[in-house]
Amino acid sequence: MSREILLLSGPNLDLLGTRSPEIYGHATLEDHVTRVRTLVEARGFTLRHLQSNYEGALIEAIHEARTTSAALIFNAGALTHSSWALADALAIFPGPKVEVHLSNPAAREPFRHVSTLAGVVTGSIAGFGAQSYDLAATAVCDLLG
Ligand code: DQA
Repeated sequence: MSREILLLSGPNLDLLGTRSPEIYGHATLEDHVTRVRTLVEARGFTLRHLQSNYEGALIEAIHEARTTSAALIFNAGALTHSSWALADALAIFPGPKVEVHLSNPAAREPFRHVSTLAGVVTGSIAGFGAQSYDLAATAVCDLLG
């Protein structure tokens, strides 16, 4: 079995660090990726990361991951609230898949209260800032064993 975990980052997450730091914190996406990589490598896994502002690129990455990756950690950004195409792609990924958010979308504007992904993922972690990523990485490693 593959020991690779794929971390996927959706639209606008490339701007973390400068984007609404009062909501998302001051850490950059690279900071989060580095912490997740350290955490999963300590558990004997490898990490691949892809950030894209394009829905189709994320969908194709999920398709490809079916043959390359054991698990997915996914912050889909605002696509979380609108993309049934991403939900369909995730539904056919066979391994553990964790939805992650820095903020708690349920406590924000009404349009963020819906997640099209929540029903097709193994579980969701939201609202713990940078720690959301650490919790997601730990959960995925535990699930993979
Ligand atoms: C987010 C929450 C989304 O509602 C938002 O569109 C984002 C970031 C988060 O990590 O808190 O881009 O996914």
